[in-house]
Amino acid sequence: MNTTRRTFLKTSSAAILGFPALVRGVNLNSNLQIAGVGCSGKGLSDITETGSHPKAKFVGFCDVDTTHFDKVDAKFPGVSHFQDFREMFARLGDGFDGVTVSTPDHMHAYISLDAMRRGKHVYCQKPLSHTVWEARQMRLQAAKSKVVTQMGNQIHSAKEYRTAVKLVRDGVLGKIKEVHSWQKNPGNGYTKLTAPPASGPVPASLNWDWWLGVAPQREYAPDVYHPFKWRDWQDFGAGTMGDFGCHIMDPVFTALELTSPITIRAESEGLNAQTWPSAETIRYVFPGTAWTAGKTLALTWYDGGRLPDNALAQMPADGKLPGSGSLLIGEGGTLILPHVGMPQLYPQEKFGTFEIKTVEGSSHYHAWVDAALAGSKTTDNFDYAGPLTETVQLGNVATRVPGVTLEWDAAAMRIPNKPEAEALLRGKYREGWEIAPAA
Ligand SMILES: NC(=O)c1ccc[n+]([C@@H]2O[C@H](COP(=O)([O-])OP(=O)(O)OC[C@H]3O[C@@H](n4cnc5c(N)ncnc54)[C@H](O)[C@@H]3O)[C@@H](O)[C@H]2O)c1
Repeated sequence: MNTTRRTFLKTSSAAILGFPALVRGVNLNSNLQIAGVGCSGKGLSDITETGSHPKAKFVGFCDVDTTHFDKVDAKFPGVSHFQDFREMFARLGDGFDGVTVSTPDHMHAYISLDAMRRGKHVYCQKPLSHTVWEARQMRLQAAKSKVVTQMGNQIHSAKEYRTAVKLVRDGVLGKIKEVHSWQKNPGNGYTKLTAPPASGPVPASLNWDWWLGVAPQREYAPDVYHPFKWRDWQDFGAGTMGDFGCHIMDPVFTALELTSPITIRAESEGLNAQTWPSAETIRYVFPGTAWTAGKTLALTWYDGGRLPDNALAQMPADGKLPGSGSLLIGEGGTLILPHVGMPQLYPQEKFGTFEIKTVEGSSHYHAWVDAALAGSKTTDNFDYAGPLTETVQLGNVATRVPGVTLEWDAAAMRIPNKPEAEALLRGKYREGWEIAPAA
């Protein structure tokens, strides 16, 4: 038994012997005891930022790669290590109140649903899930378990996005007629591949079976999936749309109170059986809201270097759209919101002297800790983030059925004009790793 294990057993038996679990909503003076799943990459910053809250206390770190604990250990020494989150959850039992989930996308729902079923609060990275169906289960389970949730698109709480939301809500542009959102990224190097690359030996530090988790069996290939590069692969990530859609469309969703689209249509540079395309255009139509001009609102997503027509922005002749961001076209002007930058208003003749008042940002991570301790809600909870993620993943469903306008019946989770595409709303899980619906 190593020291970490001994230390853990000491603390866990203390928990079993009667240290009370945090009772939601009544322990403002207690610490929030947190387990972190995924400790390098974004997990390192999720743990660092969450752990900087004076009442946040990490009680367990889990990573399938044992070489990935060093940086979190340097920041928070003495926290127990696990390679399997299921063992961590079982061992910690009542000794933890919440979890940060910072794994590749395909494992978000499996881990978060398990935690919520145990009554644990969840901070889960974007996109909330790998499929539309999983995003729906995440929202339903959070409501059933009455836990405090937050999606990890931290720019939601940043001054740039908050300021843009306020400008739209203040009616500076009038009602919004259409929206364009884009991200220049063409993927991470594998979008043109058609077959899995050559396999190689699994490093001794990595449990490849647990890294695969719900995903179909495949051989490990060095420096192709783990770490970071899994994004391009359909079995693990969600392409550029999945990587950036929940960031870039978030202020649009918040400002306009969008929920579910009614139609989705996609075209791309071509899709193979393994990876997401290198460039695509996805056209959504949403029901109109109090903030939109018509009965419906068109929102078009572009990636891989595709951009909306510059002329739509009403910028000066030498104006250039940013590499990534959104363009909101209102009845009385346009707003360009770079990802991530302060909003700009056009045309210049109208807004040249307009003073944009900055709405201050705050810590997205601390907001989750505060809400969990107070029993209150975050603004990026799964009731909000679920439909945003469904929209992102519906884009990927449409990409797999190119050139067809899919009608979306959100309440029934059906595609009435293309029922054969409904299978794409769900994943196929490896035996023993099936994801159960919210209950
Ligand atoms: N919010 C943001 O700005 C932002 C930025 C980057 C990534 N992300 C998101 O964060 C998540 C992680 O992305 P990344 O770039 O850090 O990936 P990564 O592959 O670099 O890191 C993932 C970490 O999780 C570990 N891991 C993998 N499977 C695990 C499992 N089943 N159990 C425990 N640990 C496991 C890996 O060993 C690694 O340490 C993704 O969902 C990604 O979309 C968000």
